[in-house]
Amino acid sequence: MFEDLLRTWDGEEVVVRFDAPTGAWMFIAVHSSVLGPAMGGTRMKSYAEPADGLRDVMRLSAAMTSKMAMAEVPLGGGKAVLAVAEIPDGAPRRELMLRYGDLVESLHGTYWTACDMNTSSADMDVIAERASTVFGRTEAAGGSGTSAPDTAIGVFHGVRATVAHAFGSDALTGRRVTIQGVGAVGEPLARRLAQAGARLTLSDVDEPRAKELAHELDCETVSAEDVLEVECDVFAPCATGGVLSGETIPRLRCRAIAGAANNQLGEPEDADRLSDRGILYAPDYIVNAGGVIHLAGFELLHEDRARVDQRLRRVADTLGEVFRVADERGISTGAAADAIVQDRLAAGRKERHDA
Ligand code: NAI
Ligand code: PHE
Repeated sequence: MFEDLLRTWDGEEVVVRFDAPTGAWMFIAVHSSVLGPAMGGTRMKSYAEPADGLRDVMRLSAAMTSKMAMAEVPLGGGKAVLAVAEIPDGAPRRELMLRYGDLVESLHGTYWTACDMNTSSADMDVIAERASTVFGRTEAAGGSGTSAPDTAIGVFHGVRATVAHAFGSDALTGRRVTIQGVGAVGEPLARRLAQAGARLTLSDVDEPRAKELAHELDCETVSAEDVLEVECDVFAPCATGGVLSGETIPRLRCRAIAGAANNQLGEPEDADRLSDRGILYAPDYIVNAGGVIHLAGFELLHEDRARVDQRLRRVADTLGEVFRVADERGISTGAAADAIVQDRLAAGRKERHDA
């Protein structure tokens, strides 16, 4: 299984360690270092098989290459997965993070890490005790803290640009937006959209969480099972990946999609399925670039708040360019975004070659 996965992958290298003392499989994938050191979050998750963790890290790292290229930051794409039997707490968690930090450090700067699903800024503080290429530590430890609020701002601009293209104006007043997942990104996104006058429907597997926020923002909720069938202008997936597939796309009743979740498409062909149904898809890795804009902006490029805000607003311009290219060439928005990424990587390779 490992052999098949690695043979068919177009990335640079994967580091695999079975960490016997903690029982965790550690995977670090360096998908591309063409535009800079490979950076991406560390995801901690329990998988049915270790190979599922390997598959995940390879897919996610490829998405990071695209995200970095479109966000115009000097970074390549990487990702790490800690495949664990159960998400640990307390001392075993600290032990795992320290041992993982040793692995990151052993790569001598090839891979730069930060938070992802089930890892927090507090975990980054621990990893940084052993590794020097760690972003998103707590502000108390000298990092820039959580990237989620800036991710939400980027998604907000993404929704605006998507609405502008679909309806001819970026005004959000009265626009119906359904948010799947009101966690660290979905909640601040909901607040911002509500403030801009959008009519929201919220959904979360944690129903009390969705209900409480809906009460505060005076909007509707829908169960996690029924969220795809809600009639709306924009569907914003802000929970997990793989929500758009041959099985789910026929059930959608939205005009457009723009959300934070990584890897929303089950497979690249799903972008065509959406465009065949007349649903405007804003590619996830452009919409959710606010996280990397926050981390790279503050910690790598040492930019100030005004400059980071300017970059977050550029999410809307980048999407506008993708929509234009898709219309001009008669291709899906997913294919248009991928083509622009490939152009930027080719330019990066040429620059390296000429240097
Ligand atoms: P989170 O874990 O804080 O929130 C996710 C929320 O979705 C939780 O409230 C959870 O109960 C809910 N959820 C899970 N499965 C669901 C389902 N099937 N239906 C409805 N709700 C469900 O995660 P966070 O940080 O808000 O991230 C959300 C998504 O955005 C993830 O896919 C993440 O990879 C992506 N993302 C996050 C970034 C960040 O800066 N935090 C940056 C870029 C992408
Ligand atoms: N994990 C988040 C993302 O997928 C934040 C992040 C961005 C982490 C870039 C590392 C590097 O965008």
